[in-house]
Amino acid sequence: MPRHRLALGIPALGAIDRGRGQIGLQLVEALRNAIYRGELTTGQLLPSSRALAESLEVSRGTVSEAYEQLIAEGCLEAKAGSSTRVAATPTPGFASAPRLQRENAVGASLASASVEQYAAMAAKLAPLPSVPFSVAVPEGAVAMDHHWRRLSHRVRASQAAAPAGYSDPRGLLQLREMIAAHLRKARAVDCSRDNVLVTEGTQQGLYLAAKVLLTAGDTAWTEDPAYPGLTAVLEERGVRTRAVPVDAQGFDVVRAFEAWPEARAAFVTPSHQYPMGMPLSMPRRLALVDWARHHGGWIVEDDYDSELRYAGQPFPAMQGLDRDRVVYLGTFSKVLAPSLRLGYVVAPDSLVDAFIGARSLIGRASPIAEQHVIAAYMNEGYFETHIRRIRAVYAERRAVLIDALQREVPELRIQHADQGMHIVGLLPAGVDDVKLAMAALDAGIALRAVSAMCSANSAISGLMLGFGGFSSERLRSSVRKLRVLLDGFL
Ligand SMILES: Cc1ncc(COP(=O)(O)O)c(C=O)c1O
Repeated sequence: MPRHRLALGIPALGAIDRGRGQIGLQLVEALRNAIYRGELTTGQLLPSSRALAESLEVSRGTVSEAYEQLIAEGCLEAKAGSSTRVAATPTPGFASAPRLQRENAVGASLASASVEQYAAMAAKLAPLPSVPFSVAVPEGAVAMDHHWRRLSHRVRASQAAAPAGYSDPRGLLQLREMIAAHLRKARAVDCSRDNVLVTEGTQQGLYLAAKVLLTAGDTAWTEDPAYPGLTAVLEERGVRTRAVPVDAQGFDVVRAFEAWPEARAAFVTPSHQYPMGMPLSMPRRLALVDWARHHGGWIVEDDYDSELRYAGQPFPAMQGLDRDRVVYLGTFSKVLAPSLRLGYVVAPDSLVDAFIGARSLIGRASPIAEQHVIAAYMNEGYFETHIRRIRAVYAERRAVLIDALQREVPELRIQHADQGMHIVGLLPAGVDDVKLAMAALDAGIALRAVSAMCSANSAISGLMLGFGGFSSERLRSSVRKLRVLLDGFL
């Protein structure tokens, strides 16, 4: 380090290295550091630009520019006609101010409750590793095809992937048109593109629905068991959740109404009850719509995997029964990939603007490039072909899994369902599904415990087993692991 730099009494200047170039920038950084570290203190005079330039062997202009930069940042100040000083920074005196008794401050205690609540949700909603029997792992034979990759490259090479300016909070027009056309044809949903709002998946759709339809203290019915991502959303909103046990026909609105007539909304999975698998029967659907019409209730229909039905045609969506009382939620997570983070809300006409407003508050709009890719994939007919292809693969994998379970783990009572990417097996009495699911991770398999999705009144001990993303061989070998694991619990 040259001696003259030390002579200025600013050790931070010793860091300046000619070899690195950009001396001006280095000088700004060194002086700024000197101020932060206290080598230069409030009000202290800096050397004149001439003196500093000479000692550093740089031009005077370089030093003057560095001083100007630091004056603009508020680190230095120069009074007309006088030299440059370190700016005076008022000391706030926080250290000596008496500490607020946070335990008694209402705002603070609410904030700390949320911190714990959100942290608990992070644990509850953490995704499982991508090993059997995790749900929703579209790899290999069920991954998106070469048409998807070609369209992705085409979009990314064009201006469309990153247009200037903000995009429409409702989502890309072409995609909304494609979604509306698909839903009218495949799901009998009664909608136009104006009812469709692109979201970052159904999770966001549930969040928006809870924001738009409910306020803290309102009552909402849910199915029991229910999707934990839904119950967490309602809890966060401060909604009184009333869980109604599902039976062979699904959610029972008559029972719900008898117990909690004050409910404003019902959150249901009519095509494929999550997680148990039964569809909501037609009489129950009609009863639910009847309630919504006569009591001003809202039905939120989570149609998360309805494209994947293995026996006959998929059931039509409930939304087609009443476009004014049903908010319909769909997702590309199951048929394409959950990592896309794209789904949609179909809102009744009276709620469209409210959903747009709520959507604008959380992240404004969904990223646009992938929306172009999906719109083109749908428009060119590949989406339908893809669904047909994966449905055939899933049907085979599902049959393999059921067969392997029946042979290797006959104590598991498989629940009848002919749709989706998972099946549920009930465990023999006394087996703790939560402990079993935890032990499974060490054995290299991923299971979800059904009791963790139940209300306190109705714990069912069972396992959710996803089969979508795994080859037949992996499914069979994983069933053998489950056999060994279960032996340790019997
Ligand atoms: C019943 C149900 N609803 C909603 C979601 C959330 O889906 P998305 O990935 O679209 O947010 C899932 C995901 O597994 C689900 O199973």
